[in-house]
Amino acid sequence: MKIVSFVNQKGGCGKTTSAVNLAWQLAERGNKVILIDLDPQAHATMYLGINPNLSSADLFEEFIKNPSVDLNKFIHSRGDNFFVIGSSLGLSSMEQMLSSRSDKLEVLVQILNNISNKIFNYDYCIIDCPPNLGILTLNALLASKYAIIPLGICELSLRGVNNLHSILGMLAEFKFKVPSPFYLITQLDMRYKFSEIFLKRVKETFDGRLLSTMIRTNIHLREAADAGKTIFEYRRDSRGAEDYRKLAEEIEKLTKDISWVQFLLKANNLKEVYVVGEFNDWQKSENYKLRKLTPNTWFIDLPLRKGEYRYKFVADDRWFNDPLNTTVEDDAFGGKNSILRVS
Ligand SMILES: Nc1ncnc2c1ncn2[C@@H]1O[C@H](COP(=O)(O)OP(=O)(O)OP(=O)(O)O)[C@@H](O)[C@H]1O
Ligand SMILES: [Mg+2]
Repeated sequence: MKIVSFVNQKGGCGKTTSAVNLAWQLAERGNKVILIDLDPQAHATMYLGINPNLSSADLFEEFIKNPSVDLNKFIHSRGDNFFVIGSSLGLSSMEQMLSSRSDKLEVLVQILNNISNKIFNYDYCIIDCPPNLGILTLNALLASKYAIIPLGICELSLRGVNNLHSILGMLAEFKFKVPSPFYLITQLDMRYKFSEIFLKRVKETFDGRLLSTMIRTNIHLREAADAGKTIFEYRRDSRGAEDYRKLAEEIEKLTKDISWVQFLLKANNLKEVYVVGEFNDWQKSENYKLRKLTPNTWFIDLPLRKGEYRYKFVADDRWFNDPLNTTVEDDAFGGKNSILRVS
């Protein structure tokens, strides 16, 4: 099951609109999809016209009491292969309840481990997060392989991104598996000069991480939400529907046959660090340069196809194996190569 969260602490940037319409479109394309509304505002739940008697708040509460609880009763069907765990205001008190637990950040991981078993057999799980970086959002991040960060055309969307980066960095440092971030432009209107300037900046900043699909401003998206319908039920021929169709195609491609692998190096006093190996013909290049998270932590995640790869780090022209990976073999120069298996 591929788990994708929509996250940005900035409110109103298109998280819910994107989560709901992407999830629906992935289902229309033949995938079995479950959407989880993790926002106490319950906008995705309302968007889909669902009135859950049991919500994600009940799910958390009952799962904490009894991890073998029947998960089926929390899942509402909304079409042949589209399923929803709805939300309710009660979810806001869940943050408090979770905060005293030692596993407070990983309750959703445990729930989704149970949901991703063979009986349910979902292809995608899409999570709509609240507009903050609290415990619920952190649960979603740790459960996800991909985090999509919608960026409305405004400066404040970007400020939310900086905070999110710091949090991902901190989680990675504590050895949590963090999702790969991708950026999605929403509410794009090229009639405004500012859109062009904003777009240029975002392209420069996020480079390969900016999704090529951009969601244009479309009044029918707003009307669909008010009518409690997805854009595909409301106006299939609209620009909004067209954009979310393209997004679903892009996400399917992105998640299909690659895995994202994280490389982390802890070392002092380095100027720059690269990872080189069989996946890039042992060549140092900008695309394989690690980011400095803290003065002594370097990080990169890379999309790799299934297979086995030998690799090393190169830091300030010194080549060495990955100190955090115990799987090694001798190289031809009297040193060691690290070995990575991507499955
Ligand atoms: N591309 C678009 N064109 C026109 N209106 C849009 C578009 N995307 C979203 N909207 C509208 O903007 C408003 C905010 O969108 P949405 O609820 O998806 O944002 P959000 O990030 O989930 O907000 P919150 O942070 O409050 O959860 C909604 O009224 C929605 O209908
Ligand atoms: Mg929302």
